[in-house]
Amino acid sequence: MVEPELARRIKVAQLPKNLESAALYAVSGGGKRVRPALALLCCEAVGGSWNDAMGAAIAVEYIHCFSLVHDDLPCIDNDDLRRGKPTLHIHTNEAMAVLAGDLLLPLAMQQISQGSLSPDLETQLCQTLSKATVDMVGGQVYDTLGGLPEHFDDLKGLESIHRNKTGSLIHGACKMGALCGNASVDQLQAIDTFGHSIGLMFQIVDDLIDLHSPTHHVGKATGKDAAAGKTTYPGVLGVEKSKETIEKLKKQAETALEPLGNAGKTLQTFNVWMACRTR
Ligand code: IPE
Ligand code: IPE
Ligand code: MG
Ligand code: MG
Ligand code: MG
Repeated sequence: MVEPELARRIKVAQLPKNLESAALYAVSGGGKRVRPALALLCCEAVGGSWNDAMGAAIAVEYIHCFSLVHDDLPCIDNDDLRRGKPTLHIHTNEAMAVLAGDLLLPLAMQQISQGSLSPDLETQLCQTLSKATVDMVGGQVYDTLGGLPEHFDDLKGLESIHRNKTGSLIHGACKMGALCGNASVDQLQAIDTFGHSIGLMFQIVDDLIDLHSPTHHVGKATGKDAAAGKTTYPGVLGVEKSKETIEKLKKQAETALEPLGNAGKTLQTFNVWMACRTR
C-alpha cells in the first residue's frame, strides 16, 4: 500500500522535472519502510484501520528519506551506496541532493494537511512530526559535530545521540499511527513507551549491522562507523553489552504492548523482527 503512494504523491506535486526525478529516486524501492509500517500497525493496534494512517505513514517516510539523502552527503557521512544503489548526490549532484532533501520536508507536512482529517488531529500530527524531525536533526548534529550537554557522561551521550537521530522519528511514526487510530489515553501511553524502546533499539541494531553485515547484504557501506570515529553502542559498550541492551529494549517494548491485547499482535511480531534483523 505504501510503496505506490510514495511515488504517486510526488508525481502530483507539480515539481520541476529534474527535482521530481530526484525526489522519486530518493524515496524509491529498497527501503524497508519500517516507519510507515509502524504508523499503520500502531493505528491498527489501537483499533483503527491502515487507511486512517496512510497520510501519516507517507509523511514520516518522506522525512526519513530526506534524512538519509542528507546523511549520505560528503559533508556528513560521505556514502556512495544506499539501498543497493548510488546515493542521490552520486546519481545526480550535491546541489540536487540538498534540494531534494529540502523538498521532502515540506512535502511530508503536506501529506498530513491534505487529507480529510479533523483540524485537531492535523494539528497533533503536525506537532508530533515536527518535534520528531527537530530531534532527528539535533541527533545528527550530536552525531556529526558534537555539542552534547557537558554534564553528560559517555553512556548518556551515546543514548542521547541514538534516541535523537533515529529513535525520535520511529517514536513519532508510532505516535502518529496511534493518533490516527483515535487512541485512548492508555493506548497512547502504551504506544509511547513502545515507540521509545524500539526507537533506541533500532539504532543499536544498525550499529551492529555496520559491524557484522556485509555491504552486498545491507545495500549500504558497512564497517565504517569505527573508522569514521562514530559514537556507537558496540564502540562504547562492546558487542555483548549492546546485544543485552537490545534484549532489554525488546522486552520493554513487548511489555508495553501487553495492554493492547490481540490488536497488538502484529506489532509484537514486528518487534521481534526489528531486534534480530541483519539489514
Ligand atoms: C537507516 O534506516 C538509517 C537509520 C536511522 C538507522 P533504515 O534501516 O530504516 O533504512 P531503510 O529505510 O530501510 O533504507
Ligand atoms: C542515520 O544514522 C540517522 C539518520 C538520521 C539518517 P546512520 O548514519 O548510522 O545511518 P546509516 O547507517 O547511514 O543508514
Ligand atoms: Mg549518520
Ligand atoms: Mg550514515
Ligand atoms: Mg549506521
